[in-house]
Amino acid sequence: MFGPGPSNVPQRILEAGSNPVIGHMHPEIFEIMNDIKSGIQYMFQTQNNMTLAVSGTGHTAMECAIFNTVEPGESVLSAVNGIWGERAADMAERIGARVNTIVAPPGGFFTNAEIEQALSKYRPAVFFLAHGESSTGVLHPLDGIGQLCHKYNCLFLVDSVASMGGAPLYMDQHGIDILYTGSQKVLNAPPGTAPISFSERACQKIFNRRTKPVSFFLDLSWLANYWGCDGKPSRVYHHTGPVTAFYSLRESLAVLVEEGLENSWERHEKVAEYFHAGLENMGLKLFVKEKKARLPTVTTIVAPHGYDWKEITTYIMKTHNLEISGGLGPSVGMVLRVGLMGCNSSKASVDMVLMALKDALKHCHKSKV
Ligand code: GLV
Repeated sequence: MFGPGPSNVPQRILEAGSNPVIGHMHPEIFEIMNDIKSGIQYMFQTQNNMTLAVSGTGHTAMECAIFNTVEPGESVLSAVNGIWGERAADMAERIGARVNTIVAPPGGFFTNAEIEQALSKYRPAVFFLAHGESSTGVLHPLDGIGQLCHKYNCLFLVDSVASMGGAPLYMDQHGIDILYTGSQKVLNAPPGTAPISFSERACQKIFNRRTKPVSFFLDLSWLANYWGCDGKPSRVYHHTGPVTAFYSLRESLAVLVEEGLENSWERHEKVAEYFHAGLENMGLKLFVKEKKARLPTVTTIVAPHGYDWKEITTYIMKTHNLEISGGLGPSVGMVLRVGLMGCNSSKASVDMVLMALKDALKHCHKSKV
């Protein structure tokens, strides 16, 4: 599974998920949820009490973040340098926000000066940024942006679905107010749970709203109670938590804790460098020009000239039993995408992908133009 996710699920995590189903309100599941909360606090490098996992994928967490923090008529600014900024803008529009965007071409990113100019022009209540833009392969710099947002009295919302655990991110130090990720990328758990955390500033805004969030399922007051984050003595039934998905998520966080976050970041960086050198040796081009802005977890390769990218991905799946992917959203037709996340981030995986790509370029049809 070398696409942009889901990645392979190691036996240990699969086994955790195959334990017997217990009740979603049993004391034992609350203990498991408490462990998950601590694991997420470590992974996000945050002390936020309001830290939990949403029942759903990264998109659910994205909606949870936006639906809770934004009220109809409020201004939202979304940084669009790929599909995730587009989707955040779409979600905010659906709940009646006034949405503005700053747009960079696929493969590009924003300077702090550009961000500050837009914050000062639009005065948004929330600013959205994707840390790992999996559609274009960009790792967005974070330094100083949280401070800028706070200067303009704006909450800083960051999508780290594709980057979390694979590239340095310190939620509290970076001044991030709302951060989320997914279970199926570096964590190597099955898709279906999405860690999320809210700063004190974000909670202040959310719990002083004039209107109820549009979604009952994603209402943070309910979720906070289910996850024991609201200080109330007992938890009330809200929805039936996906208990076996919680087992797997807990195990995947334990794997990350055992390796250590810094070691995981370093491994992903080294493996990505090895992969990128191998691609360039083959004559392939990396889509993201600036080295420091290359996402170590999902690599975008310029679609080789003269080939049909779909024929390449199909050939590799059929002949080598490996998944790699084409572009997504604005990068469709422009790139091939290879994900090396969690247990898949190894030199052995890189060698497998490089061999499959070499073979595909030999066997797929090359047009004469
Ligand atoms: C999904 O996250 C993707 O990047 O394809």
